[in-house]
Amino acid sequence: MSYSSAPIGVFDSGVGGISVLKELFHLMPNENYIYLGDTKNAPYGSKTNDEVFKLSSDCVNELIAMGVKAVVIACNTATSIAVNELRSKYSIPIIGIEPAVKPAVIAHPGGNVLVMATPVTLRNDKFLNLVNNYKKDANIIPLPCPGLVEIIEKGKGHDSELSEYLKKLFEPYGTLKIDVIVLGCTHYPHVRNQIAKAFEQDAEIIDGAPGTARETQRQLTELGILNSPDKFGDICFISTLQNEKEIKIMKEFFENQ
Ligand code: DGL
Repeated sequence: MSYSSAPIGVFDSGVGGISVLKELFHLMPNENYIYLGDTKNAPYGSKTNDEVFKLSSDCVNELIAMGVKAVVIACNTATSIAVNELRSKYSIPIIGIEPAVKPAVIAHPGGNVLVMATPVTLRNDKFLNLVNNYKKDANIIPLPCPGLVEIIEKGKGHDSELSEYLKKLFEPYGTLKIDVIVLGCTHYPHVRNQIAKAFEQDAEIIDGAPGTARETQRQLTELGILNSPDKFGDICFISTLQNEKEIKIMKEFFENQ
């Protein structure tokens, strides 16, 4: 087996990063992937920085032990805390994701940009620096969503709980014209339609997954380790809960949501 055919490791606290895996697979269908969902420790978004760093490190170590050629941190929360230190520790590419504030501001200069994310992502320096860089170009409004990941992790069949949550969350924005909503947590694209419906205004909704997939492709191309393009790659799903039910849920998220 050549190094190019080694898998790309992708991880998140649970099913969220599958929204990133979909973009990666769409862009690079010939790559092999290992998706690691740290379901046992979800959610990350309400933990301390030290806890999130330790869990992220463990995921990267596990993926590297399995022989991946690159790691995609498919989690805004883990990226905001751990990406810099992890990059300095390992020699393989480590690609992160951040709330898509830049594309939102470029598409809606001077507009109102609502950024939905976990409390950890929104309080950390990485996000505060992002806001500092773009606050002169648009009105950036952070919207922490504690508890939303937990509802999404439950999977299908929790629609009324989800719509109640979203209705309450968006209540304060009834009169303010929002131009764009940034989904700054990789779980949220799984419920993009429900978010659009609950928000009622005709705002654009964007997320960071396409940018992360393009950046992954760029780095692999630059290093000359893209996989040879004659057949679809394999995807292996792993959960830290180590049960078949979780794997089945992950596959359903990949195929249907
Ligand atoms: N999906 C993750 C993110 O992008 C974190 C979810 C969580 O575990 O709180 O932030």
